[in-house]
Amino acid sequence: MSFAGTVIDWQRERGRHDLPWQGSRDPYRVWLSEIMLQQTQVATVIPYYARFLSRFPTLSALARASQEEVMPYWAGLGYYARARNLHRCARVVMDDWQGSFPENAQDIAQLPGIGPSTANAIAAFCYNARQPILDGNVKRVFCRYYGIEGDTQKKATESILWERAWQHLELAPDDVDMAAYTQGLMDLGATLCTRSRPACERCPLAAGCVARREGRQAQLPTARQRKVVPQRQVCVLILEHKNRILMYRRADKGIWGGLLTLPEFADRRACTTYLQQALGEHALPVPLAAFEHVFTHFRLHIEPALLHASELPAVLPPVGEDADQASRWQWVTLDALADTALPAPLRKLLTGYFDGNSTRAIDTPRLF
Ligand code: ADE
Repeated sequence: MSFAGTVIDWQRERGRHDLPWQGSRDPYRVWLSEIMLQQTQVATVIPYYARFLSRFPTLSALARASQEEVMPYWAGLGYYARARNLHRCARVVMDDWQGSFPENAQDIAQLPGIGPSTANAIAAFCYNARQPILDGNVKRVFCRYYGIEGDTQKKATESILWERAWQHLELAPDDVDMAAYTQGLMDLGATLCTRSRPACERCPLAAGCVARREGRQAQLPTARQRKVVPQRQVCVLILEHKNRILMYRRADKGIWGGLLTLPEFADRRACTTYLQQALGEHALPVPLAAFEHVFTHFRLHIEPALLHASELPAVLPPVGEDADQASRWQWVTLDALADTALPAPLRKLLTGYFDGNSTRAIDTPRLF
């Protein structure tokens, strides 16, 4: 039996069949699910997917919305460039493709935020296109099956993997069910051929698997050379005034692009200096417990500081470099926080602190 046939038979019997995006050939739903599932676990995605679809049930509904309306539905999923590209992509499909997703994988891959593997997955799921996928899980399956060494993010290794992926389709039957094959590869990678302790005894590909034969499952795929991740630090200020807190909408680019964040300072001392200049000598912020958030390229050490201000001057002096962009600053009511596009670590900080949506903060000194 062909490689594809083996994967398909296994998918039908043992694969996943009840994921919310399965059973739909609607490219809008498939595309949304594939973007959400990039670098994100199925269990995390499921509630986001449902909420997103109930607010933006169609591609045109998404294209009509502003980016600010979209971001709250992504807040907490991370990798926010995905949401910005998703929104841009919806508008491109409306403007350049009369509102219906292109069917050809090459055309799909030209759209914002869609790489070759995702484009092929969409084409395979929606249009039964004979196009292979090669996401992180599938790379792991192929590296083990063929005993391929090398960093799977490097071009040289990737092109070997793509060659294998195409070969499987050349050898597949004419009437291959591309949705089942594509889903089967994803399911194998996610449920059996896992990074640690793969379940080879249940794997339909075990008989032909080089890593299994040579006992090299733990060595393949080759571990990437770990760079030391640099650490940055920031002090974030929770400035509360009359049940509102001061927040700032970040520029679209960079970390947390498009989301609301707290005023930031290099450290607590800079924060205190700012507050004392703005509000007077008595303005002493309370340090809250510091924590870390890990991004792809660095770790961020976050030191929160809190100040309740019962009175404020008519005009607050600017904070930081973007301060001249007054329109980016806003006072957000504590009640509105739940519906606001916040990065996950800040949501955790604020909800932990303000007890969900209540206005009762823990006992802290008040200003003035
Ligand atoms: N990861 C990426 N795409 C997926 C899908 N369609 N189902 C489950 N996990 C996935």
